[in-house]
Amino acid sequence: MTAPFASLLDRAPTMSGDEIAASLVPPRQFDDATLENYTPDPDYPSQAQAVERVRAFAAAWKGGGGGLFRKKAPELKPGLYLDGGFGVGKTHLLAALWKLAPGRKYFGTFIEYTALVGALGYQATVKLLTGSTLVAIDEFELDDPGDTMMMTRLLGELAETGTRIAATSNTPPNALGEGRFAAIDFLREIHALAARFDILRIDGLDYRRRDVEGHAIAYPDDVALESAAAALRGTVTMDDFDVVLRHLATVHPSRYVKLLHGLSAVGLRGVHVLHDQTDALRFVAAVDRLYDGQVRVLATGVPLDQVFGDDMLAGGYRKKYLRAISRLIALTSGSTP
Ligand SMILES: Nc1ncnc2c1ncn2[C@@H]1O[C@H](COP(=O)(O)OP(=O)(O)OP(=O)(O)O)[C@@H](O)[C@H]1O
Ligand SMILES: [Mg+2]
Repeated sequence: MTAPFASLLDRAPTMSGDEIAASLVPPRQFDDATLENYTPDPDYPSQAQAVERVRAFAAAWKGGGGGLFRKKAPELKPGLYLDGGFGVGKTHLLAALWKLAPGRKYFGTFIEYTALVGALGYQATVKLLTGSTLVAIDEFELDDPGDTMMMTRLLGELAETGTRIAATSNTPPNALGEGRFAAIDFLREIHALAARFDILRIDGLDYRRRDVEGHAIAYPDDVALESAAAALRGTVTMDDFDVVLRHLATVHPSRYVKLLHGLSAVGLRGVHVLHDQTDALRFVAAVDRLYDGQVRVLATGVPLDQVFGDDMLAGGYRKKYLRAISRLIALTSGSTP
C-alpha cells in the first residue's frame, strides 16, 4: 500500500517582511485563551498572582488611549516579563493580554521579530511597530550578541514612544544568554533590557503533562507508522528523520511556520539521538511551530522525548530542550486537539 503522503522536502517557503508582519498574531491554538479561562493552580500562588499582574497591566489602557498618547502610569514599567517553567500557561496569558490591548498590536515569537528585522531592516521595523499599543514577545531568549544589541535598542525605542512590551521566557531576564555566548560582555545591555520589565516568575506543573503519559510514543516499525498515518485526515507528510534535519538546515527558522502550515501530521522515520547542537536547535524550532499549529507527530526509532543527547541536556540550552520534550510528548500522544 502506498499512502498518498506528502513530503516536507517539497515545501520550501519564502516569506517577505510584509508576510511576517501580517503573521504577527497569536497562534490559533490560543484563540480562546482569556484571563477568565486560565485556572490558577492553588498549589502555586504565583499563578493567581500572574493573572492579577496581567489584569493590572491591561487596566492601564482603559480610558487612556494607546500608543503615543497613552497616559503615563508612573508606577508601572513599560514591560511585563513572565518567566517560568514549561506548560504553566505563559503563552496563554500573553495571548489573553494581547486580546485586551486596544488598537494596533503585535504578537510573535522572539524568532519572528528577529526575522522581521532581518527581512525589513531595523529602521523599517521600528517604524512598523511604533505607535502600537503592545508588542508581545513569546519565548524571549538571547542566543548571540547581535540579538542582544538589536533587541535592547528596539525595545528601548519602542518603550520611549509609549508602546508597551510583554514577554514570556523560560529564563529570567538577568540570566538571558548565559551558557550560550559571552553574556558577561553584554551585561550593560542585558541589565538595561531587564530594567524595562516588571518581572514575574510563574511556578507550576506542566499543564500539558497533566493528562498525558510521560513518554513520547514511537511506532514499532515503518509499517505500523504508515498505517497509523494513513488513517489520519488532511495533509500528512512522511520523511526520514535525517532527510528532515537536512531540509530544516536549508530553511530559515522564521519560515518553519509556513513550512508546517496546514499539515495535520508529520511522520518521521528512523528518529535517532541528536549529537549536533545546530541540528538539535533547528529541530527545537520546528517542534515549537508544530506545537503552535497542533500538528501531530508520528515517528519510529528512538522515542522523541529521548532525542536530545545527555551532553546537550547538560548545556546552555537545557531548558529549551526540556520544553521541546514536553511539547513532543503532547504532540505524539494524539491527545492534542
Ligand atoms: N492554568 C491554566 N488554565 C487553563 N489552561 C492552561 C493553564 N495553563 C496552561 N494551560 C493550557 O495548557 C497549554 C499549555 O500552556 P502554554 O502553552 O500557555 O504554556 P507555556 O507556559 O507557554 O509553556 P512553554 O514553556 O512550553 O512555552 C495551553 O493550551 C494553555 O491554554
Ligand atoms: Mg509558551
